[in-house]
Amino acid sequence: MGREDDRIKVLIAEDVPSLRLVIVRLLTEWGFEAIPCGDGLAAQEALAKPNGPRIAILDWVMPHKSGPEVCEWITNELNTFVYTIILTGKTKQDDLFAGLTAGAHAYITKPADPEELHARLKVGLRFVNYEAELAQKNEELQRYATQMELLAEERAKQLVHADRMVTLGTMSAGIAHEINNSTALLSGNVQTLQKFWPVMEKAMREAAQPNEENFQLNFILEEVPNVLTGMRSGIVRISKIVKSLKTYAHRGATNEQEATQINDCIHSALDLCENALKRTTSIELHLAEDLPAVLAAPQQIEQVFVNMIVNACDSIRPTGPGVITITTTQRSGDVIICFEDTGEGIPPDVLEKIWDPFYTTKGIGKGTGLGLSISLGILESHGGTYHAENRSQGGARFNLTLPAMETDT
Ligand SMILES: Nc1ncnc2c1ncn2[C@@H]1O[C@H](COP(=O)(O)OP(=O)(O)OP(=O)(O)O)[C@@H](O)[C@H]1O
Ligand SMILES: [Mg+2]
Repeated sequence: MGREDDRIKVLIAEDVPSLRLVIVRLLTEWGFEAIPCGDGLAAQEALAKPNGPRIAILDWVMPHKSGPEVCEWITNELNTFVYTIILTGKTKQDDLFAGLTAGAHAYITKPADPEELHARLKVGLRFVNYEAELAQKNEELQRYATQMELLAEERAKQLVHADRMVTLGTMSAGIAHEINNSTALLSGNVQTLQKFWPVMEKAMREAAQPNEENFQLNFILEEVPNVLTGMRSGIVRISKIVKSLKTYAHRGATNEQEATQINDCIHSALDLCENALKRTTSIELHLAEDLPAVLAAPQQIEQVFVNMIVNACDSIRPTGPGVITITTTQRSGDVIICFEDTGEGIPPDVLEKIWDPFYTTKGIGKGTGLGLSISLGILESHGGTYHAENRSQGGARFNLTLPAMETDT
């Protein structure tokens, strides 16, 4: 197959064959690909083809459709730019205006002067190139506009999300307050009941007939202390959740900040997690000795570390014994704290959600889903960053950074 013809196509619609032939020859001589036709309808057909000619020389008077009528059709129906030159014997100004109104770009009066025709074609070519450039720019602009629309949509979604988070925070504060009041009441009453119980039990046992086979009463008397203990632990759990909610609601407000040694916070957090760690998890520490201090509220930083450690323990527990590795380093003015575990890792589709409040994969009653969102708030209020990923060898890795305090030299 030969190389595709890259010559510019020029339509010549002229019903006088001899004149048509002359123009075809001239066009070929000037390096164009001539598309000849003998009437207005054939001209329209040729122009409507995909990759049809974008320059057209149209005779004014032709069978079926005149040159100006073809121009009108191009303007109103073709939807593609075609540079049109009308070839005419008419020289009256009114006629010329009528042609221009129909959408023609130029006129050449018969007999056509080859030089003038050539010059007009060159102008036409420039128009066609501008048009093509414009169409390309337009397409780029459209693409850009679509991208901007998508971006705006995404931003709007993020704003709604942020707004929801704020509402959730405000709601949490209100709910926490209400629950706290009721829990305090419950807690007080259960404690009072526990205190009174031995007296009540004694009285009830004494009141029962000596030989009476009252199994039910015996059972109740033995069960009540367990029920009360269960109630207490339930109340303790509610208090813990409420405390977390409160911290979440007030996460913008930081405690007193002071020069804090991150390695010390890690040791304190590990002490606090002693219970969680005992069963299945061992700890490996790689703590840099010359770590600079960070300006921070130590309790809050400890809280972040406790969340990290407890989460790692929770992830390790189902698959048996495992290791949590905690590494501290410094780089470009930041203290970096890395928590790695050999647990089950974080499902990739969940990675984005784990920092959202109330997002948890733990069973009902096991996780509140607030640990990481509270940690995120604390880190942000300290100018820090956070990043979670899965390790290639299994388990999760959490990289946290906090800006180091500048040291006086
Ligand atoms: N080290 C980890 N390995 C695997 N998944 C983790 C890890 N840390 C967090 N996750 C996932 O992130 C979720 C959210 O953690 P987050 O600490 O916010 O809440 P939680 O642990 O479920 O509940 P809470 O901390 O309130 O008891 C967890 O439920 C778990 O799916
Ligand atoms: Mg947690």
